[in-house]
Amino acid sequence: MPWDSFTPHPALAGRSLLTLRNHPPEAVTAILDLADRLKAQKGAWPHLLADRVVALIFERPSTRTRVSFVSGIARLGGTSMVLSPSDMQLGRGETIEDTAKVLGRMADAIMLRTGPHATLLELDRHAGVPVINGLTYEHHPCQALADLQTLRERFGGLRGLEVAYLGDGNNVCVSFMTAGALTGMAVTAACPEGFMPDPEFVAWADGVARANGGSARVVGDPREAASGARALYTDTWTSMGDEGGEDERRAAFAAYRIDDALVGEAAADAVVLHCLPAHHGEEITYEVLHGPRSAVWDQAENRMHAQAALLAHTLG
Ligand code: CP
Ligand code: NVA
Repeated sequence: MPWDSFTPHPALAGRSLLTLRNHPPEAVTAILDLADRLKAQKGAWPHLLADRVVALIFERPSTRTRVSFVSGIARLGGTSMVLSPSDMQLGRGETIEDTAKVLGRMADAIMLRTGPHATLLELDRHAGVPVINGLTYEHHPCQALADLQTLRERFGGLRGLEVAYLGDGNNVCVSFMTAGALTGMAVTAACPEGFMPDPEFVAWADGVARANGGSARVVGDPREAASGARALYTDTWTSMGDEGGEDERRAAFAAYRIDDALVGEAAADAVVLHCLPAHHGEEITYEVLHGPRSAVWDQAENRMHAQAALLAHTLG
């Protein structure tokens, strides 16, 4: 199929991505299909973002999100600008509303990494252009798109795929379970008491997942979640904004570490995922992270393909 036949999915064109929750499964599939196509493209990418400018605001540190957006936008022929509060008037008290109104006049889309999800919603209310969530304390949908692409390329399909998430029921866990529900995966999260995702969210995810051929549940026992799973996924035990109680967290999460023994509980062809950055010896051992079952480096690379595809559908 020639590139000039590419048409943005109607549920994505001109729309923000704040969470995946309100996106139809077909839109997610459209992003994944384009992401795979871009990844397979040898040589230069088609300039699906020619003449487009994307503002990337980072109120929190980032390696992958920053580099993957900049790189993906450049390869699609667009331009990006990386902005941080320390070099914007935002850092001197200019409001999100005023910032949104100005940036929306000059950029075709705005990506924001921030703390409270409410800040992202405020930006979206006033920007007048699509806003992309580059991580909030509550959600990390761009990560989930790369997670789906990684699992789909390893296993050929997602419907009914049994996968386990281990550790903190945080933004990455919630976005992964949301993505899993939309694509019909059978996701089991194992989290200690006090660190489980909101039960109302899990009930919603289970309902959507069941309609799509999967399920969503939370258990306390990491072995129960890992048993027979095709993927084991973990994330840091201390997210940005959770600093201060690391010792308590290390104690609470110790049994949830992905090590060789836990990998041994999973299916013989299981892969290991981690959104990165990793803390060797805490949520994952160095040996597993860098070992033969690790799909982590593909997962990191897929951030670029998945987000480039998202932007092409949003702005194309
Ligand atoms: N996984 C992820 O979002 O990484 P960064 O914090 O480096 O962007
Ligand atoms: N849960 C982590 C993800 C980092 C990419 C955090 O929010 O810090």
